[in-house]
Amino acid sequence: MKASARLEIGDTICELPMIEGTEHERGIDISALRSTTGCITVDEGYANTGSCISRITFIDGEKGILRYRGIDIEELAEKSHFIETAYLIIYGHLPNQAELARFSELLTQNQCLHELMKYHFEGFPATAHPMAMLSSMINASSCFYPGLMGRRNAARFDVQAARLISQVRTIAAFSYRKSRGLPIIYPKRSYNYTTNFLHMMFSEPYEDYQPEPEAVRALDLIFLLHADHEQNCSTSTVRMVASSQANLFACAAAGVCALWGPLHGGANQAVIEMLEEIHRAGDDGSAFIAAAKDKTSGKRLMGFGHRVYKSYDPRARIIRRACDELLARRHVSDPLLDIAKRLEEAALHDPYFMEHKLYPNVDFYSGIIMRTLGMPVDMFPVIFAIGRTPGWIANVKEIMDDPKARIYRPRQIYMGPPKSPYVPLEQRQ
Ligand code: ACO
Repeated sequence: MKASARLEIGDTICELPMIEGTEHERGIDISALRSTTGCITVDEGYANTGSCISRITFIDGEKGILRYRGIDIEELAEKSHFIETAYLIIYGHLPNQAELARFSELLTQNQCLHELMKYHFEGFPATAHPMAMLSSMINASSCFYPGLMGRRNAARFDVQAARLISQVRTIAAFSYRKSRGLPIIYPKRSYNYTTNFLHMMFSEPYEDYQPEPEAVRALDLIFLLHADHEQNCSTSTVRMVASSQANLFACAAAGVCALWGPLHGGANQAVIEMLEEIHRAGDDGSAFIAAAKDKTSGKRLMGFGHRVYKSYDPRARIIRRACDELLARRHVSDPLLDIAKRLEEAALHDPYFMEHKLYPNVDFYSGIIMRTLGMPVDMFPVIFAIGRTPGWIANVKEIMDDPKARIYRPRQIYMGPPKSPYVPLEQRQ
């Protein structure tokens, strides 16, 4: 017999079916609640709400487990690369050689922007944040592909997905070049995805950037570790937009906007700004930790805490190790890394952080790697967005492939004024 939950509202008893996931996580299906009882549930911030049933990514926040399509993130970080992992996330299985070759070829064929897109870049001021440019340009890009509109077509989806993954990277690099007044560098056919990004960022018309394998590997790892993270703020936004059957590029542009904020993907930029502030102040970290615990200070320890992880974020552990390796191979040190490690050490032994179960998240160390690679700080959330694109696409695909998919439309409890008359202008106080 299937398990159910019983809910008593006054004299009414409502039987609610239970749903159990692959890893035994349990949910109560309330989809018939309003029609049978007239009530809705209220869960501001959605901390207790499962917005969908998904087959893409599994997280156990208590145990610090993250899996894409069933494969542990640690194993993917060690054995896979971003493009293979992107395929896994979107199509649900690791590609065989032919599938990977076809996917890579599609990415290469679709990496150049429409030439007219160059003029759109001209309109941005030099101070424009690259995340603003990225979301605008992803949306603008959709104007050049009328085929984007009829989405329920598998062959067309493959091309549009590859186009989006490829062009997000090209737009990101062009945005950086434009914001610095530098000439645009086009992608090269011979380079792989991540090398091409470094090439478009750092080559000059008179001199090619020489991609170092360790830089390519470190950046590729960052992309891979960000590739999906189930129903986070930006992915939920993407699913919300996708549920109205908006096109893939429109969904991704919305995802970039949601990702931008400092509580989400903008945290990697905020972490470096915080570490720089601590460094400038000559603080050993203790003053900042004290401020982060003081609710009146308006400060938080950026890169710490997570809605789902109540233990160490497995991505943070991998990135911290990668950070050490990259700096050691380059024989460089970064005072900000030393501060970050001191902050972590202090926070992990501090009763406030322990009681609140606050641990480093993916953003705590990723900025150190990006800085070491020469990325400017305002590009950090953009790099996050490049990495997250396959996850957004997979979530859109899941909605597209679901014949029962409905528009996302939550309800609310209205607490505004009761019915009131319209007061003519001359009678208003
Ligand atoms: N520093 C200090 N205190 C914190 C922090 C922090 N980084 N994070 C949470 N807290 C405290 C809150 O003040 C609150 O305390 P209280 O219960 O005593 O009032 C408690 O922990 C719970 O915090 P919430 O904000 O309710 O937790 P929520 O799950 O809503 O937020 C979030 C999670 C946004 C990640 C939060 O931990 C945060 O702001 N962290 C810093 C920003 C950051 O690193 N964001 C990146 C997250 S990962 C990602 O999106 C890629």
